[in-house]
Amino acid sequence: MKILAKEVIADIPGSRITKYVIHSPVIAANAQPGQFIILIVNEEGEKIPLTIVDSDKKEGSITLIVQEAGYSTKLLAKLSAGDSLYSLTGPLGHPTLIKNYGKILLIAGGVGIAELFPIARVLKQAGNMVYSILGSRTEELLILKNEIERYCDKLFIATDDGSLGQKGFVSNILEEILREETDFALCYCVGPVPMMKAIADITKPFKIKTLVCLNAIMLDGTGMCGCCRLLENGRIRLCCVDGPDFDGHLVDFDDLAGRLKRFIPEEKRALEKFEKHQCKLNSVKPEKA
Ligand code: FES
Repeated sequence: MKILAKEVIADIPGSRITKYVIHSPVIAANAQPGQFIILIVNEEGEKIPLTIVDSDKKEGSITLIVQEAGYSTKLLAKLSAGDSLYSLTGPLGHPTLIKNYGKILLIAGGVGIAELFPIARVLKQAGNMVYSILGSRTEELLILKNEIERYCDKLFIATDDGSLGQKGFVSNILEEILREETDFALCYCVGPVPMMKAIADITKPFKIKTLVCLNAIMLDGTGMCGCCRLLENGRIRLCCVDGPDFDGHLVDFDDLAGRLKRFIPEEKRALEKFEKHQCKLNSVKPEKA
């Protein structure tokens, strides 16, 4: 579980996104697009579910892309190439169903773009005609544009500030596309919950099958704790073992959004502690492999 390489791929005040290549031969040998791992940085870290962005069976490595957002992702950012993680569990979750659907829409926002990349690649390789819409707050945070572009027939970009592509949201572009073309067999969407809800609301009247990749709060990641439950068509489902892909027209996004807010006070306290004490990392050295 040694970090083989670490590269900051986006860095603006308050938002930093980093790519990690991690030695993990067993996970690399078994990982399929759409699956994730659960990572613990050290004895002080929580469990972080992260999509496997890429895997290299020959090197025995997996690639993860992480935005520093909370206590544990900031803790992870303190590690360097050569350091080892406390634990890594995976691959977890169902792989995304890959087949030739025909003409499809892939939509991602923020760091969700990293999660879209392995899906775009295999869906294009499966023979689909791929339209992708990527969105971010600003140009610097729009990661993997060139990598995803290779697997798209058409690529559309939206930024909140208009610094790249169209000013506005991915949902605005989707509405424009659907005014002209509606013959899509699938829409696959990953990103913030409000964005996925907006996309599902737009595709529903057009009866376009819409899969959303959900990122619920997780603990064990194996269906034991119930922490990641959500409602799909009124039924309780577990994001870790039933997902992470769900039918966007059936997910109760308001319930999901409420569940994601459960630990905000604790997360705030942990972040304050991190800022104040630099999380004791100076005294708790990560294990070397
Ligand atoms: S994380 Fe525990 S049931 Fe899914």
